[in-house]
Order: sequence, then structure tokens, then C-alpha cells
Amino acid sequence: MHGIISKPSTLTRVLIAAAIGACMTMRATWAEPISITLEFEPDLDNGRQVYAICATCHLPEGWGNADGTYPQLAGQHRNVLIRQLLNIRDGKRDNPLMYPFVQERTIGGYQSLADVVAYIATLPMTPEHDLGPWAEGSEEYTTGQRIYASHCAACHGPEGLGNNSHYYPRLQGQHYSYMVRQIDLVKRILRRVDPAMEAVVKTLDDTQLRYVLNYVSRLPVAKQDLAPSIDWRNPDFR
Ligand code: HEC
Ligand code: HEC
Repeated sequence: MHGIISKPSTLTRVLIAAAIGACMTMRATWAEPISITLEFEPDLDNGRQVYAICATCHLPEGWGNADGTYPQLAGQHRNVLIRQLLNIRDGKRDNPLMYPFVQERTIGGYQSLADVVAYIATLPMTPEHDLGPWAEGSEEYTTGQRIYASHCAACHGPEGLGNNSHYYPRLQGQHYSYMVRQIDLVKRILRRVDPAMEAVVKTLDDTQLRYVLNYVSRLPVAKQDLAPSIDWRNPDFR
């Protein structure tokens, strides 16, 4: 097992990133959807080294934390991670805390982004993420379930798995507290997401949004995606 301070990456770095213009009519304030074609051999050694920086906030396991300050990254789609990283790097998604750590001068160019995302993909998810307050079977849960089916499932999938090629985040396994904070930001237009999602969110009041996120937080995660126990620690960072 390589330590994280192992040899610098030696792979030839070939990268083509193409930003394709918007194919939908969108407001000028909304960032154009980016189609990124990365032609590279992911260098996991470099990914690990880059991830050492990320681990200081997102934890070595990529699990984020239950109070929702830091999202869980483990289990998230690569395209979603790449897009969020680019949006944060460019300041399109406001994240003053993380901003300096994703600049090219700090972690390197697109190849490094591809490497760190490939590394994150190797991490199992936490078996105990933050759940909303309403148990399965309660009225609040059932209301949330109904709203999810009619308002969210078309994009995020009936099981909350999202969609890599469409850049729809996986929601299952994400911390409830983090999602509540994000939805509040979306509602107050402090985080711009897909305009269709923004529109849907605005049709729901704060209570309905909490019910639906409670339901989302309780969507089961497949056992093979989870770490064996909450005590599991990423061996690369020991
Ligand atoms: C100083 C702390 C800090 C560091 C270092 C940091 N992040 Fe973050 N990151 C955050 C915070 C805080 C958020 C949530 C921002 C918000 O609430 O909108 C975040 C959000 C993200 C997201 C968006 C996730 C989602 O579900 O939308 C990704 C992807 C991400 N970080 C990846 C990384 C990677 C990769 C690195 C290392 C190169 C890194 N972060 C380093 C604090 C940090
Ligand atoms: C039209 C498609 C669409 C619909 C409908 C939609 N979403 Fe989204 N959602 C997205 C996209 C795309 C993103 C990622 C936005 C970005 O790039 O920043 C997202 C992001 C999110 C996030 C933030 C995830 C993260 O990791 O940061 C949450 C939480 C979320 N959606 C919940 C919901 C809920 C709850 C509903 C239903 C009320 C919903 N969405 C409906 C497309 C959609």
C-alpha cells in the first residue's frame, strides 16, 4: 500500500476539457452546462496525494460530517464531483471555505481533478449518515415520499441514485443536515442548480422540503457501497 506522500505522478498527462455551450435557454446568471470530456488514465497515486488536502475537511474517509458542514463525497458520481469542483473553482458555486484549495496553483490542472475524483470513487460510504427526524411509517415520512415521487424522482431517480451522465447528484446516503442547508440555499437563490429544480423547489414550502429531504435521507443504500462499519478508517491515511 502506498503512503500518500509516495512518488510524484509520472504518467503522461493528456487532457482535453471541452466546455460545450448551453443547449437550453437559460438565464444569463446561470452557468452553462459543461460537458467535460476527460481523456486520461486516472492516476490514483496522484489522486491520493491531492485528496490529502480535501481530507482535512471532508475527512480521510470522504464521509463529511453529520452536522452538515461538509458533504459526504464517497459514493457520489464522478461527473457530479467534477462539475461541482469546477463550479467551486470558478466561483460559480459560492464556497469561500474551499475556494483556495481547489485552485490550479494549489492542486494542479484538470488531470489532478480527474485523479482526485477517481480516488474518491474508491472510497466506501459511511454506514451511518445523518437522518431526518421522522421515522418510516410516520405521516411526515409518507408525505415526503409522495412529494419525492412527484417532484424529484424524475431527475434524482426513484431510489435517489442520481445520474452520472446527466450530472444529477446521488442523494441517497447524503447527510440530511447538509441537504437541508443546500435546499435552503437553492430556495434563496444563493446556490444555482438546474433551473427546473429551482422552479420545483420554489413550489414547496419549508415544511414540505424538510419532509421530502427526511424521506431522501432514509432511502436505503446498497450494502456493497457501504464501509463495513462506522469504525472503518481509510488505510491510506493512517
Ligand atoms: C477548508 C475545507 C474544505 C476543503 C479543504 C475542501 N472542501 Fe470540498 N467542500 C467544503 C464545504 C464547506 C463544502 C460544502 C459547501 C456548501 O455548503 O455549499 C464542500 C463541497 C464540496 C463538493 C460538493 C459536493 C456536493 O455534494 O455538491 C465537492 C465535490 C468537494 N467539496 C470536493 C472537494 C475536493 C475534491 C477537495 C480537495 C481538492 C475539497 N473538496 C477540499 C469544504 C472543503
Ligand atoms: C430537473 C431536474 C431536477 C429536479 C426535478 C430536482 N433536482 Fe435536485 N438537483 C438537480 C441537479 C442538476 C443538481 C446539481 C446542481 C448543481 O450542479 O449544482 C441537483 C442538486 C440537488 C441537491 C444538492 C445535492 C448536493 O450533493 O449538493 C439536493 C439536496 C437536491 N437536488 C434535492 C432535490 C429535491 C428534494 C428535489 C424535489 C423537490 C429535486 N432535487 C428536484 C436536478 C434536479
